[in-house]
Amino acid sequence: MAAKPFHLAWFLQGSSIQAWGEQWSGNISEEWMTADMFLDLARSIERAGFDYLLLEDSIYIGQNWQNSRDMFLKNGMSVPRQEPSVIASLMCAATSRLGIVPTLSTFAYHPYLTARIVGTLDQVSSGRAGWNMVTGSSDLAAQNFGLDALPEHDKRYEMAAEYIDVVTKLWGSWEPGAIIADRKTGVLTDPSKVHTIDHRGEYYASRGPLNSGPCPQGRPVIAQAGGSPKGRAIAAQYADTIVASPKGVEAMKEYRNDVRARMAAFGRDPDSCKVLFLASPILANTDEEAQARAAKRSQASTEEVNRRLAQLGWITNIDFSGHDLDAPIEELTTNGHQSSLATFMKKAGGKTLREGIIAYTSHGASIDFVGCPETVAAQMDEAMQEVGGDGFLLVLPNVSRKTVCEVTDGLVPALQQRGLVRSAYTHKHFRDNLLEF
Ligand SMILES: Cc1cc2nc3c(=O)[nH]c(=O)nc-3n(C[C@H](O)[C@H](O)[C@H](O)COP(=O)(O)O)c2cc1C
Repeated sequence: MAAKPFHLAWFLQGSSIQAWGEQWSGNISEEWMTADMFLDLARSIERAGFDYLLLEDSIYIGQNWQNSRDMFLKNGMSVPRQEPSVIASLMCAATSRLGIVPTLSTFAYHPYLTARIVGTLDQVSSGRAGWNMVTGSSDLAAQNFGLDALPEHDKRYEMAAEYIDVVTKLWGSWEPGAIIADRKTGVLTDPSKVHTIDHRGEYYASRGPLNSGPCPQGRPVIAQAGGSPKGRAIAAQYADTIVASPKGVEAMKEYRNDVRARMAAFGRDPDSCKVLFLASPILANTDEEAQARAAKRSQASTEEVNRRLAQLGWITNIDFSGHDLDAPIEELTTNGHQSSLATFMKKAGGKTLREGIIAYTSHGASIDFVGCPETVAAQMDEAMQEVGGDGFLLVLPNVSRKTVCEVTDGLVPALQQRGLVRSAYTHKHFRDNLLEF
């Protein structure tokens, strides 16, 4: 029986300058501002037939270590970081088939602005834009926008549901065929096909119509990444693609089945949303070399342990700098990424903080793939068969042209030979490719 193909996407974290100081990062400390390395990445993964590139974002400089920005600034941890919609438009210009998905958080952009930015990206890319819907998770970010703090976790999702509703209505404010461009009558747009939305809700208001005009896809693709019950509910209601990082095949299967059941309960066809699991394959020429690379990830100096803890603190709003590295971990709570903290606590159960963060970060993705390209292709095949679909969201700790090449010119051809991923795009629009299989 022919293998069931799955989808690949790329999760691009931060700015290319993060790779600074690593081997094979070229002259990135001088060149990062032009985003050339990221544009090369977009071209490369398009050549390899990826569905989309998701641009992660956050809108603040971390301060979750000794209540100081030093750790983050000195080590280039998620800073400097450029506005994702600007980088996304450069990526649209550099590609012709790849889906481009910037992250725009609900507390920082008014829904009208999000609808307009993503709608414009959809136009300039001829129907390849998406939006990664996040609510944000840090009060430090909220303070950059004149707020004291973000709303409480579940309330943020409640607000996000209304937000998505407004954005979707704005995208729908132009009926198909509204632009007639009739040279004989001199009429460009049929006014009867362009409507106000007159939304006055609990949290947002917008009159509309969207002045940027219709979107080639009608409704650009919506991506979402919630892991908590509220997060899963909103993903099941609205998302076209969900990115998630439950740990291990069993948890992945549970997550996908749960989201699919929730979709059915909302009256949606579960196949109309693709769930992609975070994976960070460790590739090398041989299995032995790859195992050695993986073993290296599990060894960390105290400085490295601190950096990894600061990064976890960054998404959970916890300052771990006062905690004893060699004492057992106490119970923790967060108004940030709840599912990330829950996963960390599960991984770290019965361990010291030092051991816990090493265990958590050495295997930060949903599942470990380690080996030469053929071995990893076989591992991915097996995992997908067990989970039931739909694909993987690849993330590499530090993007360089060399590590990208290991994926696009090593792993992907091995997957293609097994019939597991596409060898060419079938459709023009992003959503059509995403829903092709
Ligand atoms: C693969 C992946 C990508 C994410 N990208 C972002 C992002 O770019 N910006 C952001 O603020 N949050 C991002 N998140 C966080 C999610 O939006 C969400 O806050 C997190 O998964 C925790 O969800 P929960 O609170 O429902 O458990 C991402 C999460 C995952 C798993």
